[in-house]
Amino acid sequence: MTKPTLLITRHLPAATEARAARDYDARLNPKDDPWFRDGAEIARRAAGASGILCAAGDPLGEATIAALPDSVKIISTFSVGTDHIAIPAARARGIEVTNTPEVLSFATAEIAFTLMLMAARRAGEGERMVRAGAWHGWAPTQLMGITLEGKRLGILGFGRIGQKLAAMARGMSMEIHYRDVRRAPAEQEMGAIFHDSDASFLSTIDVLSMHVPGGDATRKWLNAERLAMMRAGSLVVNSGRGPSVDDAALVDALKSGHIRAAGLDVYDGEPHVFSGYRELQNVALLPHLGSATIETRDAMGARCLDNLDAVLLRGEAAPHRA
Ligand code: DGY
Repeated sequence: MTKPTLLITRHLPAATEARAARDYDARLNPKDDPWFRDGAEIARRAAGASGILCAAGDPLGEATIAALPDSVKIISTFSVGTDHIAIPAARARGIEVTNTPEVLSFATAEIAFTLMLMAARRAGEGERMVRAGAWHGWAPTQLMGITLEGKRLGILGFGRIGQKLAAMARGMSMEIHYRDVRRAPAEQEMGAIFHDSDASFLSTIDVLSMHVPGGDATRKWLNAERLAMMRAGSLVVNSGRGPSVDDAALVDALKSGHIRAAGLDVYDGEPHVFSGYRELQNVALLPHLGSATIETRDAMGARCLDNLDAVLLRGEAAPHRA
């Protein structure tokens, strides 16, 4: 039987590529050549393909979707986020869109926690100091940060990742607060305190950790007005999507000290990073590492292929429809 053709836009973990090559006529991108940054090129390379396995950030907006050949039946993204795909346009063309929920929740919460600690304990500054040969020995007042113990953690977006972070933070004796469109059931809250307004949420917490999807509804959510609602000396962490922060406003708040420190893993227009951040010591900057563990990336690849297999090999509904 002829294998369906699958366009894979990015270099993927070995096990994922091997399974794809076994079950599909797979068009791989083993050197991660940057053609995936060009939607027209993705559409051109999809000629005759039944499926596309893409990744976070690939430009699958309306223009790309419109240019795809009729042969494409499914877009399976190697990400939980789908803000890079015009899903209504795809569905209107009868193209299924799938993602990789659950398998990256713990890893992404780990990165949020890492950033919280980096911001609270000035770990980025310390690391840069040692590397620069500027450390001249232990000193009683050197790089004093703040402890997370007993602090109030505010989780914006109390989904799977936010709940994993809450579980980790309980182990650090933090008090958990959250803001979401609706209150979670008691078995998910596990004592976390729901806030039904931004003002009540932001004025209560010591650390804000953002876990909201990209898109127009959350664009520049953390703006000057909301930053002003936060307690002086609070921390801000974002491992969700970059566009949900107004970068200029956060830089101003970091410069004034109203926000003591921040930790960011995601950026508006990444890999571009707002220039104001680079000049500041009190912000830890990571290169979108949220799901970057060997275990998680293998699981994400398996989930992408499970979705593709259901639609293209068995003619069934995809298990993880976005
Ligand atoms: C996602 O899955 O959406 C992440 O941002 C990349 O792992």
